[in-house]
Amino acid sequence: MKGLILAGGAGTRLRPITHTSAKQLVPVANKPILYYGIEDMAAAGIREIGIIVGDTADEIRAAVGDGARFGVRVTYLPQEAPLGLAHCVLIAHEFLGDDDFVMYLGDNMLQQGLVEFVDRFTATRAAEGDRAPAAQILLAKVEDPRQFGVAEVTGSGEVVRLVEKPEHPPSDLALVGVYLFDPTIHEAVRAIQPSPRGELEITDAIQWLLDHGHRVVHEVLQGWWIDTGKKDPLLESNRYILETLEPENHGTVDDASSIEGRVVIQPGAVITNSRVRGPSIVGPGTVVTNSYVGPFTSIGADCTITDAELDHSVVLDRARIVGVAGIADSLVGRDVEVTRSGSRPRALRLMLGDHSKIDLE
Ligand code: TTP
Repeated sequence: MKGLILAGGAGTRLRPITHTSAKQLVPVANKPILYYGIEDMAAAGIREIGIIVGDTADEIRAAVGDGARFGVRVTYLPQEAPLGLAHCVLIAHEFLGDDDFVMYLGDNMLQQGLVEFVDRFTATRAAEGDRAPAAQILLAKVEDPRQFGVAEVTGSGEVVRLVEKPEHPPSDLALVGVYLFDPTIHEAVRAIQPSPRGELEITDAIQWLLDHGHRVVHEVLQGWWIDTGKKDPLLESNRYILETLEPENHGTVDDASSIEGRVVIQPGAVITNSRVRGPSIVGPGTVVTNSYVGPFTSIGADCTITDAELDHSVVLDRARIVGVAGIADSLVGRDVEVTRSGSRPRALRLMLGDHSKIDLE
């Protein structure tokens, strides 16, 4: 079994953060989203992983390297443009060969690991021979299936039909970004045509399998699942992951400070005359002075937080937040400065990148 992680794409919904960096590398609890997927694959016993990369290839290569630190071997598969999830399978054929593989969207996060999902496919395929399913998909119950790829299923776990963003959904079960395939999928992705939005759709490839007499089975996801490609879901997954961390203090905290609950303080962080309430994480080399860091907050490396108050937020490396209270539900990019100069007249003096968003109360 091999792994295929999709880490190309444009990331338009996370601008301006994705103007300068890959959305799959935005950190959740100070760890890039992409690492969670690689770790889940490694835990499921997968050793060979292909990563589809696009415009942000250099950055992804720099962050993941050859995979040795995760106990896997990584091969990078450049995609010239984001031409669809099934297009990723098309260009990965040589890497995948005739092996079964698990395909995973690099910006998704799941509470449930991949171990049981992968084991079940391997076991069914070994037991059922010629009648074994050609694909196994992961589905999640969603409130509004009209925005998703939706599956019609039977009580015995078979998938009957897939529809992309249906007006009248046949069920409330949406496709989550994890798929298991046998090599039949290569025939399917070669046979289908681009959709009206110009992409080779993986739902069309799976429907092709069904139309040609192949079995597709499903499993309904346990626990949470988040497509982190937008700000609020990203903050939500940050909240979930922070709640799983064990408290640790590798930094320096003075006597005037209080650290409450599940707080991780990474090496070289310095906390002075401040209150930090968990669950939260303070990154390496970050200096927090005369401030309040509230629950569900991740602060990256080498940030400066002075005379500030923030909670429910993700702050990326080297940001400076000085003299500003009441920051909440925010995503603050690398090297961003939010300060209060005190100069007159009182005014908001902004320098915002393209596609920035500000909400003043
Ligand atoms: P999407 O969220 O469908 O697409 P996107 O990254 O272009 O995002 P946005 O809608 O914000 O512009 O992609 C899911 C994942 O698959 C994501 O990690 C990017 C990756 N992907 C590819 O690698 N190649 C592709 O052709 C597509 C469509 C996505």
